[in-house]
Amino acid sequence: LRYPVICIDGPSGAGKGTVTWRLAQALNYQLLDSGALYRIVGLKAFEAGLITADTNQTIDETAVLALTQSLEIAFVPNNESGRVDILVNGEAVGEQVRNETVGGYASQIAVFPTVRQALLKLQQDMATRSGLVADGRDMGTVVFPDADVKVYLTASAEARAERRVTQLLNAGQTADFEAILTTIKARDERDENRTTAPSKPAEDALLLDSSTLDANTVYEQVKKHCQDQG
Ligand code: C5P
Repeated sequence: LRYPVICIDGPSGAGKGTVTWRLAQALNYQLLDSGALYRIVGLKAFEAGLITADTNQTIDETAVLALTQSLEIAFVPNNESGRVDILVNGEAVGEQVRNETVGGYASQIAVFPTVRQALLKLQQDMATRSGLVADGRDMGTVVFPDADVKVYLTASAEARAERRVTQLLNAGQTADFEAILTTIKARDERDENRTTAPSKPAEDALLLDSSTLDANTVYEQVKKHCQDQG
């Protein structure tokens, strides 16, 4: 028996997180935030001195792999925060992985085939327990190629940077549009052009551009697509 899998892929800031969460709630499915896995490995690799913020450095793939294999990672849905709590070696990771700096670390270690392979089974196993909504870059192409529904959610880099600015300002922080735009483009570039599991739509994915859509409209369109797919 295989449980239904819905894949929501695309770049950061396109709105995947919100759609994924709402679908998982509505269908009573588990949620897989695969980006969090790469963020955790990125953060741990940084803490271990294996990577720096300098994206031109040479990184020791074998050392990052060994570190990845030493981590025990578990997901626990949290209804209060509307997100999934992540436990690493039994400890909650919390919000410290959810910033752009750690996103950058994540995309640096995400280029390594051996590291991706080490995280593969953990992700696939989640579909053996219940229905799953999976959020990432390669859910529909690599991790769940035979998924029931695949969506690739994009938005222009400008629209995504604008959303990030609003988010930061709402959180009482400062935000520099140009700097954010540059960072977003650099991460897209790395994620889309790597050799292993680049971020791209699966051939059978619905392409949805959220640049001019609000979160609710995006959700309704994805939901309709899920219904249409049976
Ligand atoms: O989705 P999120 O922004 O949390 O992902 C952080 C980074 O992790 C991405 O920029 C990408 O480099 C990597 N990632 C990946 N494959 C996934 C999910 C995330 O390579 N399925």
